[in-house]
Amino acid sequence: MSAAGAEGSRSIDAGSYRVIIDTGLRHDYAAMIVAAAPAHHYVVITDDTVGAQYAEPLVVALARHGRVSSERVPAGEAHKTRDSWARLTDSMLATGCGRDTTVIALGGGVVGDLAGFVAATYMRGVPVVQCPTSLLAMIDASVGGKTGVDTAAGKNLVGAFHPPAVVLIDVETLATLPPAHRRAGLAEAIKHGVIADADYFERIGAEVSDLLEVRPAATVELVVRSVEIKSAVVRADPRERGLRRTLNFGHTLGHALEHVSGYSLLHGEAVAIGMVLEARLAERIGIAASGTAKRIEALLRRAELPVEPPRSLSPEAVLEATRRDKKASKGAVTYSLPAGIGTMAGEERDWSIEVGDALVREVLA
Ligand SMILES: NC(=O)c1ccc[n+]([C@@H]2O[C@H](COP(=O)([O-])OP(=O)(O)OC[C@H]3O[C@@H](n4cnc5c(N)ncnc54)[C@H](O)[C@@H]3O)[C@@H](O)[C@H]2O)c1
Ligand SMILES: [Zn+2]
Repeated sequence: MSAAGAEGSRSIDAGSYRVIIDTGLRHDYAAMIVAAAPAHHYVVITDDTVGAQYAEPLVVALARHGRVSSERVPAGEAHKTRDSWARLTDSMLATGCGRDTTVIALGGGVVGDLAGFVAATYMRGVPVVQCPTSLLAMIDASVGGKTGVDTAAGKNLVGAFHPPAVVLIDVETLATLPPAHRRAGLAEAIKHGVIADADYFERIGAEVSDLLEVRPAATVELVVRSVEIKSAVVRADPRERGLRRTLNFGHTLGHALEHVSGYSLLHGEAVAIGMVLEARLAERIGIAASGTAKRIEALLRRAELPVEPPRSLSPEAVLEATRRDKKASKGAVTYSLPAGIGTMAGEERDWSIEVGDALVREVLA
């Protein structure tokens, strides 16, 4: 086994690290972790749900290569906090983890962000290997090097850039992911199609039922293409000064809806609604080809995702929440908007377009 992956695995160059994708790859995780980030001590960080399914064989296999400890947090966004970070780092200090430690993030995006931030800060930084188990984490959170935790003031406000040593993706683990989370992950894949690849957008439409059932062949291709798109954007603009903002399509209104719903909408569900509304904004401003919003809406419906804001949410509260978003720098709320399926608008404005409140009210009404 080499760091490049098992025979037949797909391997994508994400800049300083590789993303390896296959079915059944988890059986080779230990050897691949040791090849990419050899250490004296391996710390597997997971949550209770994912840990119960997948942690033990990994811990046993890693124990053949060094000292291993296993850390668990309760599942869910509510635990992506500084408290969890403090507990994890205290525990690592108590078990005597030195600088020669590799952290393994085994779980969804919550575990990936939290364990990544632990690795970024422990002894001023130790390697992290991302082993994402949710579709969202596979195609989005594990790639790009952003790590962090939430605070009372908002999501992801304390964190660090800390690219992984390698990302290991076993699409078979999606078999146990609840269907709502599969759909939420698909929303981000559809976003990748809109921002960068019209053929990919069409292909998701043609294969949507296989994708909802996470059939291996279609799912591997989906993860590969999404990781290619995300990693190409991140490589071109690692610190989000320009092109990386295109990944925020659907997210200005998406984050606001997510927040105002009290997080009863999953992130991907909020982004689905956000994409439809923001595509309508783009059409009204005259920068998107007409029909763009309808095409996005039709595909999201086929993926069984919501396409309109819940009636219980007040449009004014949503508008207000867009102003709280950290992307609203200097007071103006900006959007990353499509020119059509497969291309984004506003390159000359660093991909961030100001939109007046009146128009936003119109699409929210
Ligand atoms: N760093 C980034 O660039 C980036 C990008 C996008 C999102 N994120 C972050 O990712 C987080 C959301 O990620 P998420 O949707 O994966 O949430 P999550 O980690 O909470 O996972 C969703 C749920 O699915 C469960 N789960 C995960 N994999 C499973 C599996 N294979 N089988 C059974 N259950 C499984 C988890 O226990 C959890 O209950 C947010 O905190 C968001 O801020 C980060
Ligand atoms: Zn997102």
